[in-house]
Amino acid sequence: MNISGFRTSRRIRQTRKWAVLLLAGACAALGIAPRARARTGAPTFYKNVLPILQQRCQSCHHAGEISMPLVTYAQTRPYAQAIAKSVRKRAMPPWFADPRFGKFSNNPTLSRGEIRTIIAWAAAGAPAGNPRDAPPARHWATGWRIPRPDKVIRMPAPVQVRAHGIMPYTYEIVPSGFTKNEWVQMVELRPSVAALVHHAVVYIRPPHSHWLPHAPIGVPFTASSLKDAQDRRDARWNDARLLIVYASGSPPDEWPDGLAKFVRAGSDFVFQLHFMPMGHAAKVRASIGVVFAKAPVKCRVVTLQLTNSSFLIPPEASNFPVEAWGTLPNNATLLDIFPHMHLRGKRFEFNILRKNGKVRTLLYVHYNFKWQLHYELAKPLRLKAGTKLQAIGWYDNSWNNPDNPDPNVAVRWGDQDFDEMFIGFFDVAIPPGENKYQFFVRHPAPKKAAKVKRP
Ligand code: HEC
Repeated sequence: MNISGFRTSRRIRQTRKWAVLLLAGACAALGIAPRARARTGAPTFYKNVLPILQQRCQSCHHAGEISMPLVTYAQTRPYAQAIAKSVRKRAMPPWFADPRFGKFSNNPTLSRGEIRTIIAWAAAGAPAGNPRDAPPARHWATGWRIPRPDKVIRMPAPVQVRAHGIMPYTYEIVPSGFTKNEWVQMVELRPSVAALVHHAVVYIRPPHSHWLPHAPIGVPFTASSLKDAQDRRDARWNDARLLIVYASGSPPDEWPDGLAKFVRAGSDFVFQLHFMPMGHAAKVRASIGVVFAKAPVKCRVVTLQLTNSSFLIPPEASNFPVEAWGTLPNNATLLDIFPHMHLRGKRFEFNILRKNGKVRTLLYVHYNFKWQLHYELAKPLRLKAGTKLQAIGWYDNSWNNPDNPDPNVAVRWGDQDFDEMFIGFFDVAIPPGENKYQFFVRHPAPKKAAKVKRP
């Protein structure tokens, strides 16, 4: 993924230099809604199961979403056994963080009691019960998982996706239409045909930016279709600010009140899309919906990344590590972490490396390419300037990995699924007046009294 950030240049153990500045007020953690559960006799749909579905399943399982709706009894009844099986195996809801490390506010994992309720309900023949026991219906805005967007920005021209083969990254520059500076608290990306989109990234291009200076506006292009050499380089690598990173299964970005991303009036959004041809040609567009901050903004959210792009995974290696690390030049508050690897990725950790050699693991993910999830820290973590952060992942390029496209080849960084990537994205909160580039300016440590050397 050609994503703004700080690429490593050597194989392992390279430092990304960043800077972050001190936060004024504290950034509140997101609370988790209380779970509803009451039970007498065999559990029923309306009384016992529906509250669980509403809170843990319907975000993905409602009309127009990525999977079958589980909203009404009629919709849910035929899946009763499949639902019981999926929760018993803990396959649903999808979640890959190892419970031994970290607490995450977006962890949808069911409690043992909830799992027992669902299994008992399915075993009892999936009774409906009394509709009067049902909790109030949850309303899902059709088409969006975030609340109704204040503004929808849609690519004006669709991209023609081929039926077969592979496609290079496609870009489209879309004016935001923002006539004043805006703070974006929630953002969601929706492709018109989600199955064909491997991933998408939307960058913020402020007015007077020198990035992609001659590239066309409002029409799709690829790096090689650009006439100008600088534009071609700009399309292959950039360090622009990220509005959102989307991949199959990824949820929208939403920050708690007081936290938001900044978009200057007159900015453009640069969409980068990677399509996966699936046997039929199609025209595809993407849209983003944004919700502006209503409460005063106390902290600005910026997305950073630890990247290692110069690894070589040997053929048949079953547990090959790739690492990237860096030190924070200024204080910042860590909000969430978003691992990205491809089909050979099997495990991912995000750690603090202490000076005394101790490792504090903030996130440990049993990585699954199909579900590109992000993990929101239940308690945002204040980090001091100088904190050493490490992202480390392990790859399975062996025959034992059922998703492995080819165990016989050595694998490097590349755009396509059969290549690999290693990125640990993470969001930090910084003071609202700072931007990402100011944040990367390191401030010298306070001077100690100089030592006098004797001649
Ligand atoms: C993050 C989105 C998401 C959440 C949350 C989620 N699901 Fe799913 N679910 C999916 C998708 C997507 C599929 C389609 C199958 C696949 O791609 O694995 C699916 C498939 C299923 C299936 C079909 C499996 C099969 O046998 O084919 C069941 C049953 C199911 N989900 C139940 C649940 C239940 C119960 C919950 C809540 C406890 C839940 N899901 C929460 C996204 C989600």
